[in-house]
Amino acid sequence: MENLHDKRKVYEKSQLIESEIKQNPIEQFRDWFLDAVENPAISEANAMAVSTMEDDGCPRTRMVLLKAYTYEGFIFYTNYDSRKGRAIEKTHKACLHFFWPSLERQIIIKANLERVAENLSDGYFHSRPKGSQLGAVVSPQSQEIPDREFLESKLKDLEKQFENKEVPRPENWGGYIAKPYEIEFWQGRPNRLHDRIIYKLEGGIDWKNSRLAP
Ligand SMILES: Cc1cc2nc3c(=O)[nH]c(=O)nc-3n(C[C@H](O)[C@H](O)[C@H](O)COP(=O)(O)O)c2cc1C
Repeated sequence: MENLHDKRKVYEKSQLIESEIKQNPIEQFRDWFLDAVENPAISEANAMAVSTMEDDGCPRTRMVLLKAYTYEGFIFYTNYDSRKGRAIEKTHKACLHFFWPSLERQIIIKANLERVAENLSDGYFHSRPKGSQLGAVVSPQSQEIPDREFLESKLKDLEKQFENKEVPRPENWGGYIAKPYEIEFWQGRPNRLHDRIIYKLEGGIDWKNSRLAP
């Protein structure tokens, strides 16, 4: 057994205090997201963990890429028939999680999810490189497949079929918008007295924030 008891880090890079935070958590997200994007130690600032609830009462988490955010919510793209897609279609909820170690920051977002408008999914789908478009067509995401060859031979066939043609977006592939109702910002601080500010949406319109014990 590897003992990790002495593996600990001092958090001292920044602080999160009431007099400096934004009243709107999306604006706070924007400040932190831009810090992450500009930080050379962070290669994919928009990579986030998405947890969905499964029928056995256990959440399941996987990474996806955040592709846009607005005052309304956070958008990512996936296969609607995937394991996460099926969970979202059932519960319409997910928890998004960002952790940027070099900034000593995490953000936890609880949200209601909806499919984005079809024209938005079309626009994003066709903005992707052709190989990624074909990959989305080829892959029955989350289903068991016999072997790798299954994907590669399908890809070869489709490359021929769509050589000089636009690839239509599969109906089961598109975006979700995660509309937040709770967002927590965590900033690591010395002596494990970390800063935690949680924003909650009240009455569907007003964001109220408060401090949580670390
Ligand atoms: C950094 C990273 C980014 C990813 N981005 C996406 C994405 O944007 N959309 C997606 O469907 N899968 C993405 N994946 C793959 C997912 O983690 C996952 O394997 C896949 O969506 C199937 O998940 P599911 O079976 O739980 O539905 C990404 C994986 C990693 C590691």
